[in-house]
Amino acid sequence: MPGTKKVFVKTFGCQMNVYDSERMTEALAQYGYTVADTPESAELIVLNTCHIREKAAEKVYSDLGRIREVKEERRQAGKNTVVAVAGCVAQAEGSEIIARAPVVDLVIGPQSYHRLPELVFRAQSESRRIVEVAFPEEDKFANLPARAATVPGTQIAPASAFLTIQEGCDKFCTFCVVPYTRGMEYSRPVAAIVAEAESLVARGVRELTLLGQNVNAYHGEGPDGATCSLAGLINRLAEIDGLERLRYTTSHPNDMSEDLFAAHRDQEKLMPYLHLPFQSGSDRILAAMNRKHTADDYRRVIERLRKVRPDIALSTDIIVGFPSETQEDFDATLALVEEIGFAQAFSFKYSARPGTPAAKIAEQVPEGVKTERLHRLQERLEAQASRFNEGCVGKIVQVLFERPGRQAGQLVGRSPYLQPVHVEGAPEYLGRVIPVEISAAGMKSLSGVIRAA
Ligand code: SAH
Ligand code: SF4
Ligand code: F3S
Repeated sequence: MPGTKKVFVKTFGCQMNVYDSERMTEALAQYGYTVADTPESAELIVLNTCHIREKAAEKVYSDLGRIREVKEERRQAGKNTVVAVAGCVAQAEGSEIIARAPVVDLVIGPQSYHRLPELVFRAQSESRRIVEVAFPEEDKFANLPARAATVPGTQIAPASAFLTIQEGCDKFCTFCVVPYTRGMEYSRPVAAIVAEAESLVARGVRELTLLGQNVNAYHGEGPDGATCSLAGLINRLAEIDGLERLRYTTSHPNDMSEDLFAAHRDQEKLMPYLHLPFQSGSDRILAAMNRKHTADDYRRVIERLRKVRPDIALSTDIIVGFPSETQEDFDATLALVEEIGFAQAFSFKYSARPGTPAAKIAEQVPEGVKTERLHRLQERLEAQASRFNEGCVGKIVQVLFERPGRQAGQLVGRSPYLQPVHVEGAPEYLGRVIPVEISAAGMKSLSGVIRAA
C-alpha cells in the first residue's frame, strides 16, 4: 500500500527505546505509514517515553504541551491527528496520562507494540481514548512484522543496529523503575534472534549491539531445546557471514559468567568494550540499593576481564546522592573510579521514583549536596575519558564507518572501543571497517586519517 499517512516518532531514554521505535515504525509501515520529519506533517505522533528519572518523565508532559498546539493547528486546517504515548511512562502512569493530558488519544505499554496499528485505527475510527498497558500472554516479538529491508521512509541502511534479545528485570534495585515498566525478565529464543540478525545483515548491517536490561542474564531457548547463554548466542551470531562486530548492553556484575569471559578472550567479533554499572563504591549503599554485590566483587570482575582482554575499554553507570549517602560513602565511589579507570561513564543524581522502595527512605540527600557530588565525580570521569582517548593518538584503529559527518567530505565511524572517529573520506567507505591512524583526541571523540589500501 503506498504511503498516504505519516508518523512522527520521538524517542526518549535508552537504546531499547530506539530499537522499539524502529519496530513500531516498521509495523506502521505495513499499514501505509511513512516517516514524517516534523510533528506538523504527521497524522500520527508517537512519544516513546522514559521513566527512569523524574526529569525524563517530566519532559514528556512539556512535549505534550507543544503537541497540543500542533494538533489544534492541524484541526483548524481540517486534518486529524492521533497522539500516542508509548514506552515506560505509558506503562508506569497508564490512564493518569489520559487524565493529565487531554491531547493524548492512546497510551500503549512496551509489551503491546505489535498491536499499535490496530489500536491507532480504533482510537481514530471509534473516536475514543485507549489505554493498553497489560502484560499480554502473546509474544510481542513473534507478532511484530519481520525486519524491513531499509529503515522505513528512507533509503538508509545503517551499518550498526540494535537488537533486543532480552527484556525486563527481576533484580529490583531499590531505586529503579525498570522491573515495573518492562516486567519480568524474558529471553527471546535463539532461532528468532538469529533470523532477525540475518535479515539486518542482509540490509547492510555490519555491527549488532545486543540489548537487554540485564543482557548478560540472557538464557534463551536454543535450537536443540536446551538453554543458551549470552556467550553461546554471541558465538552463534558470529557465524553469520557479513556480520563483523558484536556488542552487548547493559550487564549486571553478578551475571558475568565463565563462558562470557571466555568469549571476551576468544571471540574476535566481540568488541573490547563493556558497559558494566557499579552504581556506588560503598558497600553500605550497595546493600541499601539491593545490588547484591560489593565493591570488591566488582573489582574482581574487572580484574578477570582485564586478564582475558587487557585492552578492554570499560564504561559504567554511577548514582550519587542515594538516600543516606554520606561523604564517606561518596569518597568510596570516587576511590573506586580512580582505581579502575573508565573509558566512558554515565553518572546521575539519585531521583526518587514513585513506588520504588528507596523513595520511602527518610534520609534523602539535599539537592545541593547531590549537585556538588555529581560535579566532582564528573570532573574525574571526564579526565579519565580524555586520558583514554589521548592514549589512542598515534595508533592505528579499525573503524566501522557509519554515516557522513556534518561537513562535506567527512565520515564518522566507531573504533572497537566505541569512540566516535572523524575522518576525511569518500562515501564508499560507509559500512566498511577501515584502518585509521588517530591524529587527535578530545573528551568525546577522535579524529584521524584513513590508512586503507
Ligand atoms: N538495566 C541497566 C540500567 C537501566 S537504567 C542496569 O541494570 O544497569 C540506567 C541507569 O540509570 C542505571 O544504571 C542507574 O545508574 C540510573 N538510574 C536508574 N534509576 C535511577 C534513579 N532513580 N535515579 C538516578 N539514576 C537512576
Ligand atoms: Fe534497574 Fe537494577 Fe534491573 Fe538494572 S538491574 S534494570 S538498575 S532493577
Ligand atoms: Fe527509560 Fe524504560 Fe529505558 S525507563 S531507560 S526507557 S527501559
